[in-house]
Amino acid sequence: MNFKEQLIEKTKEANQILQGFLPAEEGFPESLIRAMNYSMLAGGKRIRPILLMESYHLFGASAREEEAFMAAIEMIHTHSLIHDDLPAIDNDEYRRGKKTTHALFGEALGVLSGDALLNYAYETVLKTVCTWDAQRVPKGMRALQILASKTGVYGMLGGQSVDVLNEKNQGSALTEKELDYIYLNKTSALLEAPLMAGAVLAGASEEEIKGMEQIGRLTGLAFQIQDDILDQTSTTEELGKPVHSDEKNQKVTYVTLRGIDGAAAEVQRLTEEAVSLLDSMIQKRKQESGAGEETGVFLRELLLYMALRKN
Ligand code: IPE
Ligand code: IPE
Ligand code: MG
Ligand code: MG
Ligand code: MG
Repeated sequence: MNFKEQLIEKTKEANQILQGFLPAEEGFPESLIRAMNYSMLAGGKRIRPILLMESYHLFGASAREEEAFMAAIEMIHTHSLIHDDLPAIDNDEYRRGKKTTHALFGEALGVLSGDALLNYAYETVLKTVCTWDAQRVPKGMRALQILASKTGVYGMLGGQSVDVLNEKNQGSALTEKELDYIYLNKTSALLEAPLMAGAVLAGASEEEIKGMEQIGRLTGLAFQIQDDILDQTSTTEELGKPVHSDEKNQKVTYVTLRGIDGAAAEVQRLTEEAVSLLDSMIQKRKQESGAGEETGVFLRELLLYMALRKN
């Protein structure tokens, strides 16, 4: 199978796993649950759960302990998208090729379904880890702690809060340092989390966990800069979300600071750095743990694909 075929297979697998963890649409909160499931099933590349699974496999594990965490990271990410699209934030009407949650279900259910998904992520992981034997619980807790801290005030939500201030020219004095803070938090944090959590669950060393964090950091910066480029150069049909959203909100991005070519060069530089870090990690696993030829091959291709993606 070539990379594209493998990606299709792994996306299907991730979708099946996520579906197994979604709440049943019944009872008094049925409309809330319908809004949650609508957003979760509306599509999406499923990059974060796939990264978690690939990191778990990279460190030699295969006990399927990662599945609840895969569902949880996609729930957290989907929560971030639902809220990002709200009128109070980016005010966008399309996401993943469909109407945004608030556009279809109203603003109240947009707010509540985002909250409920964030909480359901933790419910899902805790429910699973509570069934584990005592020996495995500490690594489950550590992985959960990583997901929580990369999501919160010192992660994605912190980044989103500063990003909101970078609007309507309020950010005219925005420095590259502040822009880095925004990107490292609103985007890198949720790519670092699955790479680190997968490694933790597989029993990787502290050095390896740090290495995965660094790969997520670089990949996340590249991913957000590419997102900014696509916001200017792509079409709504191809992206499944509105183009020129940044311009509409008068946001300062890497593209405004460096131009399309400068931004594209930065995506390439960051991706090369991430891939070279991954290469040394793979090399080490082969030398020290006798890992096979296939180790990390797909993950490496995935990092390159994320930088060159068209949607
Ligand atoms: C969109 O993330 C938000 C950003 C961090 C740029 P994705 O591009 O991974 O969105 P989906 O999950 O495929 O819809
Ligand atoms: C958002 O960045 C990142 C998060 C949702 C945390 P953007 O606002 O650029 O993402 P899109 O373009 O709406 O997906
Ligand atoms: Mg935004
Ligand atoms: Mg947005
Ligand atoms: Mg964007």
